Amino acid sequence: MQILLVASAFNSLTQRVHAELRDRGHTVSVELAPHGESLRAAVRRYEPELIVAPMLKTAVPREVWTAHTCLIVHPGPLGDRGPSSLDWAIHENASEWGVTVLQADAEMDAGNVWATVACPVPPVGKSDLYRNEVSDAAMAAVLLAVDRFASGTFTPRAQDSGADAADVQVRPYVDQRLRRIHWDSDSAETVLRKLRAADSQPGVLDELLGADWYLHGGHPEDSLRGRPGELVATRAGAVCRATTDGAVWIPELRPRRRTGGPATFKLPATTALGDRLPALPESPAPPHLDGRLRTWSDIRYREEGQAGFLSFAFPGGAMSTAQCRRLLDAYRTACSRPTSLLVLGGTRDFFSNGIHLNVIEEAADPGEESWANINAMDDLVEAVLTTTDRLVVSALGGNAAAGGVMLALAADEVWCRAGAVLNPHYRLMGLFGSEYWTYTLPRRVGTDTADRLMDDALPVSAVTAQRLGLVDRLVACGPQDFAAEVAATAVRLASMPATQARIAAKKADRERDETVRPLASYRQEELVRMHRVFFDPDAPYHALRRAFVRKEPSAGTPPHLASGLPGRHGEVARRPGDSVTGMASRKAAPGPDGC
Ligand code: COA
Repeated sequence: MQILLVASAFNSLTQRVHAELRDRGHTVSVELAPHGESLRAAVRRYEPELIVAPMLKTAVPREVWTAHTCLIVHPGPLGDRGPSSLDWAIHENASEWGVTVLQADAEMDAGNVWATVACPVPPVGKSDLYRNEVSDAAMAAVLLAVDRFASGTFTPRAQDSGADAADVQVRPYVDQRLRRIHWDSDSAETVLRKLRAADSQPGVLDELLGADWYLHGGHPEDSLRGRPGELVATRAGAVCRATTDGAVWIPELRPRRRTGGPATFKLPATTALGDRLPALPESPAPPHLDGRLRTWSDIRYREEGQAGFLSFAFPGGAMSTAQCRRLLDAYRTACSRPTSLLVLGGTRDFFSNGIHLNVIEEAADPGEESWANINAMDDLVEAVLTTTDRLVVSALGGNAAAGGVMLALAADEVWCRAGAVLNPHYRLMGLFGSEYWTYTLPRRVGTDTADRLMDDALPVSAVTAQRLGLVDRLVACGPQDFAAEVAATAVRLASMPATQARIAAKKADRERDETVRPLASYRQEELVRMHRVFFDPDAPYHALRRAFVRKEPSAGTPPHLASGLPGRHGEVARRPGDSVTGMASRKAAPGPDGC
């Protein structure tokens, strides 16, 4: 079917719908940030059989929805209406929520129902919920609605009719007055709920150390205490703030924008506070965090049987120089343990999105900071690539992009939750990329596919990633079950006799590859290109990074998305001679159980 996706941004859900509809053989075009005339023009250009809006903040013009079936994805259960559905789900402590696919109508969220799918609401931030449970429900609802439309026999029904008719509930926009934290009276649970409902955007506006800040992210603390509202400790860039009955960790802050001033952006809390930060104790997480401790830590390690699990979760999947170095230290410590298999990855949500563009943007010299950050990423990737005394598995509970995908590919196996979306490319940020991708990517998918992935700069579903060879094992489970599924498989694999033989073989492979072409030479060649870009003030990377960090709206639909046909070569970063053709191509060997 010819399907037109219309969206306010090519966000995670739009990317997933795009990738999974294409997987099913549909021809998918995209119109971004549409206003009335641009959408009418896109409809004339593509003549779609169906229009789907995975994330649209504006109304569809009447002449479009009267002439075409337009399906609007609403992140709320049947009968729910309003612009802040997920904020309300968290605010009201709902244990279950849903996604409803509605037909566009004159009134927002009031159209007839094509599909509705329920989902659980675990205690996580709004964006995490959106990228995971809500994304799974939305994808299921979209596929159901598309199938129903294709059948030609389905009649969508009004929200308040039928056997499972729902009461219509219009929930208002959640503004900062509703989000406000009352430090003198709110319990830690209430504070956490308010922070989660505003995470990752817009954050909770609050006063801290004499200035206005948006607080981003919120995690529990077990034992630290203080006067309500007071900062009591720091940990890995986050600050801990006391409540009436406990304390919470806040990893990031964003200054309030001054009237007429430039857009502000999130930074690690201690970086954002800078000189304002009083002397506070750095309170590292206890080394062994078992299930009883809830205190926040962005890096954790545990063991089960012969398997080690090094998990990490950085806000937005972005990894600064400091975060890369801390993770490398933890990786080295994990490698000193007597395990035969090490799982590297988050338990849910983003695996990694590469270097930390916000921290780079804030640095006194963004070129220097970009350089430090990419080298810190490369050091981490190198440590993974040169681990020859155990198997390493990357576990992707959620999405990954750019250098974050390449970090995953450094492992012997990549396991990926079936709902994840991968963006294995760099050029939209004006970069050639590093993280040894010129070694790992062609080795897994072949040079032609590596070139195509880099050029197309399109998201790929987990299923396609497996088909291409980027992923070895699909983990078909809900986001909350991913860690347990991975653990069970990892423990089994770690204790299999064949694993020792694989470890010996991988060591031999690495030594052979090193004689063919040393790893250092891949890194050097990549970094020559990166250095040129980082230290050229006119390179597009600097303007692209600035726009990304400050969330400048896209001027329209980028050319690589406009056509439903894949394979258009972009013009941002690749230059003649940038092809990877000619590099070593070797498909990853399948595991003993064929994964
Ligand atoms: N540095 C800093 N912040 C990043 C980031 C990065 N590398 N990648 C993602 N983020 C932030 C986003 O700004 C966003 O912040 P918000 O929640 O406050 O809005 C958050 O992480 C989630 O990203 P978002 O873009 O909303 O998620 P998405 O799922 O819609 O899109 C990506 C994911 C990865 C495609 C998109 O974020 C992206 O292009 N990131 C940059 C990747 C990159 O170029 N890395 C550097 C080269 S190695």
